[in-house]
Amino acid sequence: MQLELSGAQQTIVESTRRLAATTLAPTTAARARAHEIPREVMLAIARAGLIGVNLDKKWGGAQAGVVAYAAAVRELAYADPAVAVTMAVTNMVAEVIAAFGSEEQKISYLPKLARGDFFAGAFALSEPGAGSDAASLTTRAVPDRDGFVLSGEKLWISHGDQSDVVIVWARTGGPGAKGITCFIVEKGAQGLSAGKPEEKMGIVASHTVPLSLDQVRVPKAARLGAEGDGFKLAMVALDGGRIGVAAQALGIGCRALDLAKARLQALERAGAGAGAGQAAQFALADMAVELDAAWLLVLRAAWLKERKRPFSREAAMAKVFASEAANRAVRAAIDLCGTGALVGDSEASRLLRDCRVTQIYEGTSEVQRLVIARDVLRQGVLS
Ligand code: CAA
Repeated sequence: MQLELSGAQQTIVESTRRLAATTLAPTTAARARAHEIPREVMLAIARAGLIGVNLDKKWGGAQAGVVAYAAAVRELAYADPAVAVTMAVTNMVAEVIAAFGSEEQKISYLPKLARGDFFAGAFALSEPGAGSDAASLTTRAVPDRDGFVLSGEKLWISHGDQSDVVIVWARTGGPGAKGITCFIVEKGAQGLSAGKPEEKMGIVASHTVPLSLDQVRVPKAARLGAEGDGFKLAMVALDGGRIGVAAQALGIGCRALDLAKARLQALERAGAGAGAGQAAQFALADMAVELDAAWLLVLRAAWLKERKRPFSREAAMAKVFASEAANRAVRAAIDLCGTGALVGDSEASRLLRDCRVTQIYEGTSEVQRLVIARDVLRQGVLS
């Protein structure tokens, strides 16, 4: 068993850490105030090889694998979780196209995504009446002479207004999972419109919008995967996406741990005694243990995915544990830092706001527990 990153993986961690420290961290608060990620930021991310981290070089990707991807997401999220989620969702979109797309679709979209010609890619699955129960979605795709006509409403779509390519799930058949098919819709398609970005609690630099599809006509070639395979395709993509959200949560959690560490060291310097007392040190230790345990879960899920082995249960475990551990870490950091952490535009309060959604998007903690429990019941306890 090998628990060390390879040289190539370590290089990605170091270069992403440098990029995050220089290009992101100094302006994270400004992006949050502006509720905007500038185009140049996403371009810098792409130029660093971070869109398509796990994509073949032939498509312009870095072909660095899933472990490197998870490590890169954690580094970006440490500096700016809003940029990290934009990068992670766009990687997920690129990977879905790479895994299920036709040759033409891959040629049309993958190099542009990887190069940063596109601001981002969006994943339009959720609807006003279909969040956790994704199989109940009602957007329809009706066959037309030379394609399909898509109509319906999508909700909570990350950067759906800024994305040049949107993957849309729609019903082509009867009710339930088997009636769903996946389509690629391009920005500017007639009938596709985005609503106003939601006023969110956190991750505010990243837009989250409703998308409306009013008789959007797409050619047959826009279908992604086979008819009726859309739900499975979404589940496969989300298994991978959950590794990204887990890593994002850990970036936030590690930043919180660093704030707590700095606070304890400052108290020590001010003469409050070693580590400002045992209670504070124990709290710091618990944060470190949980974040580290969560990181090992993330690495295992990423390692399995990289080897093309089943990893749904492991990704769900990583996501539920990492997002909950990170939220506990942020709260503990605020307790250690005191009321100063909660006034004005403090970083600790931003972390608190940014962290919460990691327990919700790409499947709530309850959905992860469902995935884990079903797999334990089916496969047994030892994976
Ligand atoms: N891989 C491959 N196939 C899978 C699968 C997986 N991980 N999970 C399920 N399937 C298949 C099943 O085998 C089944 O196929 P068969 O009938 O042929 O056996 C079919 O899909 C239906 O599966 P289920 O019966 O398990 O489906 P379900 O309706 O009970 O749903 C669920 C299960 C786990 C709750 C699922 O609905 C789910 O994951 N919901 C959460 C949705 C979600 O995560 N949304 C996030 C939105 S995107 C987002 O947040 C991005 C962002 O912007 C940040």
